[in-house]
Amino acid sequence: MKNSASKVYLVGAGPGDPELLTVKALNVLKKADVVVYDRLVSQEILDMIEPGATRIYVGKAASNHHLPQEDINALLVTMAESGHTVVRLKGGDPFIFGRGSEEAEYLTDHGVGFEMVPGITAASGISAALGMPLTHRGLSTGVRFVTGHAQAGVGLDLNWKSLADEQTTLVFYMGLSNLPEIATNLMAEGLPADTPAAAISKGTSDDQRQCIGTLGNLPELVVDLDLPAPVLIVVGRVVGIAETLNWQELPYEDANGALQFPKEVERTA
Ligand SMILES: C[S@@+](CC[C@H](N)C(=O)[O-])C[C@H]1O[C@@H](n2cnc3c(N)ncnc32)[C@H](O)[C@@H]1O
Repeated sequence: MKNSASKVYLVGAGPGDPELLTVKALNVLKKADVVVYDRLVSQEILDMIEPGATRIYVGKAASNHHLPQEDINALLVTMAESGHTVVRLKGGDPFIFGRGSEEAEYLTDHGVGFEMVPGITAASGISAALGMPLTHRGLSTGVRFVTGHAQAGVGLDLNWKSLADEQTTLVFYMGLSNLPEIATNLMAEGLPADTPAAAISKGTSDDQRQCIGTLGNLPELVVDLDLPAPVLIVVGRVVGIAETLNWQELPYEDANGALQFPKEVERTA
């Protein structure tokens, strides 16, 4: 028997730093009795879930889906129909390369309502952490979020001609393993090899590492530094501005009141 009041909250957890969780997301999380969460949700955010709530981990590493998407969809419906307050918690924003809209469609098809609680997507959170704008007057007239993920055995199916635009900032999600192909295709369509480019690993977390180079040398730098996933790739003239801005993160007090000094941003020319 369906519970007509059943509802699933599709909630974005942000890119990693627990302080980048929205107030609305935290409020919803506190009232959840079931939380279905992904691999990219940080431990600090999971620690905010009420102790009595049921936590269900559903994946997903790139080629190792813990639970197939169809099963996740069905699980959300079952939980909601049982009368639970369900939070579907995802890294970043659920509607940006997060399959949040697929889950919303499935819920709708099965008569279960949903509410969307947006999160800070990796591009916004990470560019702020680097002191790097995504657009800047005179350097970039727009920004494109692009998938760098290809189906197994098939190359990336992207419109490289339209992407190779010096006025546009490109942010590649899931592009780590295809970075050489991405760089080669953009350069083949005329984007200069010296276009500034950055790769950021585990952005906004305590383990954040990044390298800044050019479109021509970034694939090699990433291999040399052995940057672990998740990695975000940013290509465009705005990347160069990060090094010119006098951006500083001030010392801050941690949860125990101790003064913490932010790590130096490592840069690779
Ligand atoms: C499946 S997509 C999920 C994106 C997420 N919904 C968002 O809005 O940020 C996963 C990709 O997002 C990027 N990503 C997410 N969080 C990241 C982080 N903390 N550091 C670096 N890249 C991240 C990586 O490119 C990763 O492969």
